[in-house]
Amino acid sequence: MDSNSLSQRIVIFFLLSIWSTLHVHCQSHIFTVSQSDAQTNSKQAFLDAWKKACATNGGTVSVPNGNYQLSDVEFSGPCNGQTRFLLNGTLIAPDVPTPNLDYWILFRRINKLTIYGTGTLNGNGASYWNTKHTTTISSLKLVRVNKVSIKNIHSINSKKFHFNVHKCKGVTIKNIHATAPADSPNTDGIHLGKSDKIRISGGNIATGDDCISIGDGVTNMNITGVNCGPGHGISIGSLGKYHSEKEVRSIRVTNCNFENTDNGLRIKTFAPSPPGLVSDITFEGNILNNVCNPIIIDQHYCPHSKCDGGDSSVSIKDVKFIDIRGSSSEATGVKVDCSRSHPCKGIQLKGLNLTFNGNPTNALCSSADVIFLGQNQTPSRCS
Ligand SMILES: *[C@@H]1O[C@H](CO)[C@@H](O)[C@H](O)[C@H]1NC(C)=O
Ligand SMILES: *[C@@H]1O[C@H](CO)[C@@H](O)[C@H](O)[C@H]1NC(C)=O
Ligand SMILES: *[C@@H]1O[C@H](CO)[C@@H](O)[C@H](O)[C@H]1NC(C)=O
Repeated sequence: MDSNSLSQRIVIFFLLSIWSTLHVHCQSHIFTVSQSDAQTNSKQAFLDAWKKACATNGGTVSVPNGNYQLSDVEFSGPCNGQTRFLLNGTLIAPDVPTPNLDYWILFRRINKLTIYGTGTLNGNGASYWNTKHTTTISSLKLVRVNKVSIKNIHSINSKKFHFNVHKCKGVTIKNIHATAPADSPNTDGIHLGKSDKIRISGGNIATGDDCISIGDGVTNMNITGVNCGPGHGISIGSLGKYHSEKEVRSIRVTNCNFENTDNGLRIKTFAPSPPGLVSDITFEGNILNNVCNPIIIDQHYCPHSKCDGGDSSVSIKDVKFIDIRGSSSEATGVKVDCSRSHPCKGIQLKGLNLTFNGNPTNALCSSADVIFLGQNQTPSRCS
């Protein structure tokens, strides 16, 4: 063998070994959770797969079709680069949750996370709904997760909230499905708090509480193309329950559909309340069918009747309702009931067409600067 062909062989050998390393490396990015029998908790198998995926740049936890019993579990970072969680199987929560834990599945302190697949989170909430509880358990909770996307997965019968996003930045939620019976308590579809840069698009949410609820400190959020109902609609608030709440700013809700919901587009604050601020809110191109309060700003929210006649100190300003159409299940289509001490400013209504039994709805306004823009809208003024 001459030295030329020897060096060629060395090169080829070298290339082959690089190729095989890459090949094995690619495969070893996926850490599959294997199924166990119906009696066994899969928690340890999930934690083992998470640990490996989190340590691997581009690592994926894969959960194939099948049922998995899973008790409360925390997947925490920081991880090495992008981490994926492919859920095709059905995860089943225990009947009885761990006391005082406010989540079933928690993702915490992670940068770049994708949760996707055709799988289902079954929160197994039925027995929980019938007993008195103070812990707001979320089926899937994200805390301090940045650049996260959740796609396509289903959530059914959460004990309380389905999805809960807290202190996150850069969140995309696409085509998720959340369902629970219309009379199941506090089964909000998606709840968000103290988070920035959020996009929610598509999907169906049919639950016993808000389809989407927006807590204090949420900024720069777009919600589009979500189907909501039954449920309590899309709500900013309740706000003003606690001291030092952060402002809610720049929220857009566009092209959503509401069917048979208790409310449509809502902002609510407790009375009395400490100071707060809600500003730059746009609701546009939404269709509501048979909705009880299609457009409602309620600053006298007082579910447990301990209001003592006090006022909310949350200021609400620059809120636009544009091209909101459909039917109300009551005579009032627009209710703007603001705080006497902090009247609403810059409430604009344009292109409304809200009817009740085929007749125009009315608008009730108090302590608010409300402007109806343009011609031919229903309702057309505060009565
Ligand atoms: C997950 O489901 C999708 C859609 O059915 C399928 O294309 C994919 O191959 C599945 N992946 C695994 C690991 O089961
Ligand atoms: C929301 O939509 C507005 C208008 O299209 C856009 O300027 C803004 O960047 C969007 N925000 C996010 C977080 O996607
Ligand atoms: C308002 O809606 C009603 C019922 O859907 C419809 O008949 C009417 O033409 C609409 N009005 C306008 C101005 O779009």
